Amino acid sequence: MRIDVFSLFPQAFDWYRTQVHVRRAQELGHELAVWNYRDYTPLAHLQVDDTPYGGGAGMVLRIDVVCAALEAVFHEPAEGLRERRRVVELTPRGRQLDDGLAAELAQRDLVVLCGRYEGIDERVANLVTDRVSIGPYVLSGGEIAAMALVDAVLRKVEGVISNPQSVVSESHSPELGGATEYPQYTRPAEFRGWAVPEVLLSGDHGAVERWRREQVGRGFAPPRDAC
Ligand code: ADE
Repeated sequence: MRIDVFSLFPQAFDWYRTQVHVRRAQELGHELAVWNYRDYTPLAHLQVDDTPYGGGAGMVLRIDVVCAALEAVFHEPAEGLRERRRVVELTPRGRQLDDGLAAELAQRDLVVLCGRYEGIDERVANLVTDRVSIGPYVLSGGEIAAMALVDAVLRKVEGVISNPQSVVSESHSPELGGATEYPQYTRPAEFRGWAVPEVLLSGDHGAVERWRREQVGRGFAPPRDAC
């Protein structure tokens, strides 16, 4: 698949793009490109945003700038992109991202539009298939949200995660009925009086399986003396 991210701060993705599973995705023939709206603005002085009509705080990313960037990259009218791709605007006003939506987004090429400041002009609704939030809180821009979304999507693409079983039965997956995974432990078996559950050291695979099944969906309670 091809993923194109549009942002005013493409350098924010530099670290993410070096991650081993992202590189593996690229070796498998998938593409992750990050574009800067500012490189394609038709406005003087590299302007990309403007004050909101009706007044109010902050600046709004202009729709003509968003269209110009999309059309420069895809060489087709921005309104038509969503016929063959998922086009996602990241916004705290969007539908909350979950495992099912990540799996859906992995089915087609994906365009991700990051906002900044007060977001993107509302007429972006004419371009997108989805408006997505990564949670009920406000970030300073869409870049961190875009990395969360792209990461959740890439994990659903076959071959990107080297051990497929770790994707099939991970937390929130259909395999676990949307529940959280069982807890994991490793050596040492005891540390500062904190012991690993006996059953995991027993070598009894059936008992380990049963214990893990019981743990699924339990999450964890914070310790009583925590604030
Ligand atoms: N941009 C700012 N906050 C956001 C959020 N919670 N989800 C997606 N995009 C955002």
